[in-house]
Amino acid sequence: MLLAEGTDVEVLVKHRGSGPGGVVGTRFVYDTHPFDVVGWDGCLYPYTFNVEDYMPITGKIHQPPPVHQVFEGHNFVICNFLPRKVDYHPLAVPVPYYHSNVDSDEVMFYVGGDYEARKGTGIGIGSVSLHPGGHAHGPQPSAIEASLGAESFDESAVMVDTFRPLELGEGGSASDDGTYAWAWAGRSL
Ligand SMILES: [Fe+2]
Repeated sequence: MLLAEGTDVEVLVKHRGSGPGGVVGTRFVYDTHPFDVVGWDGCLYPYTFNVEDYMPITGKIHQPPPVHQVFEGHNFVICNFLPRKVDYHPLAVPVPYYHSNVDSDEVMFYVGGDYEARKGTGIGIGSVSLHPGGHAHGPQPSAIEASLGAESFDESAVMVDTFRPLELGEGGSASDDGTYAWAWAGRSL
């Protein structure tokens, strides 16, 4: 971080308003320069968030992924899938529908419980999956039937969707089980 000295330091904050170009400003004067610190208590700083404090949003029919979103950064989002009541329409299919996430690569980390949509694929606690953008995927056929009439899911997973393509590093390639990509086809390589 840039260090700066000084007292009675002016800090100009631009924000939306009725000024030229829709921008106005506020002039703050601080005793010391705000950069003259080890950390900066501004709006952008690292902090921890206990995933169990996240409140899942549920609905009558299946809700789209943004209801699970907890963080958003430049070119990525982070979503939590947590124990929750599930879709309560009498004809609802609680597991996700098939999709191709054409705008993002999708990394899932299965933290706890029993991830309903991926039953029968070898996915377990501690697994990490990568669904590249454009790769159609969804629940196992048996998972669809098994989910009908379910009132709640006991699953904990964290998802990172990136809006730029990901590449596998050595660690990722070394831990590839070689079969997951074929889970939907019902066959192996
Ligand atoms: Fe997906």
